[in-house]
Amino acid sequence: MLEKDIERILVSSDEINEITKRMGKQLSEDYKDKFPLVIGLLKGCVPFMGTLVSNMDIHLEMAFMDVSSYHGGIESSGDIKISMDLNISVKDRHVILTEDIVDTGRTLKVIIELLKYRGAKSIKVATLLDKPAGRVVELVPEYVGTIIPKEFVVGYGLDYEEKYRNLPYVGVLKPEIYNK
Ligand code: IMP
Repeated sequence: MLEKDIERILVSSDEINEITKRMGKQLSEDYKDKFPLVIGLLKGCVPFMGTLVSNMDIHLEMAFMDVSSYHGGIESSGDIKISMDLNISVKDRHVILTEDIVDTGRTLKVIIELLKYRGAKSIKVATLLDKPAGRVVELVPEYVGTIIPKEFVVGYGLDYEEKYRNLPYVGVLKPEIYNK
């Protein structure tokens, strides 16, 4: 049903499985005995963070924030809104921020500054996708699943007008869907 709206698959389910396995293993080594706080930025983080933490063989804690920047369209607005804040303290914690994609970098830049201000001991970013060609602020994620070109993608957490987040892969939408 959903597949008919997809022009082409950019990152397949198999590739996502490999990415999360590799990244989960790396994080398990890097954060051994650190009891990291894995923070997910809702709602895009859900599928990726779920698979990632299930590939991490260490003790960790999870928490969520709801941050929006896109407001349903395909252009980043640069206007970041925190609609749900964390319910625990980040003070002295090693934080791993998980994201579906880093595009302009604005969202994470703001969140990183906020968590630093709140006293996090360390903050690193783990993202499924990186779109470096879209960057407008300086931000280099420490853990990157794969780099993609500057295209609007959906699936595995990424949406277009709140739809397509449940696709088991990442794909490019047919232009007629957003030109409607
Ligand atoms: P940034 O602040 O521009 O880096 O935006 C990050 C957020 O924008 C992501 O968490 C996504 O919610 C959204 N975003 C960026 N690129 C895309 C895309 O290609 N498809 C869907 N959402 C995107």
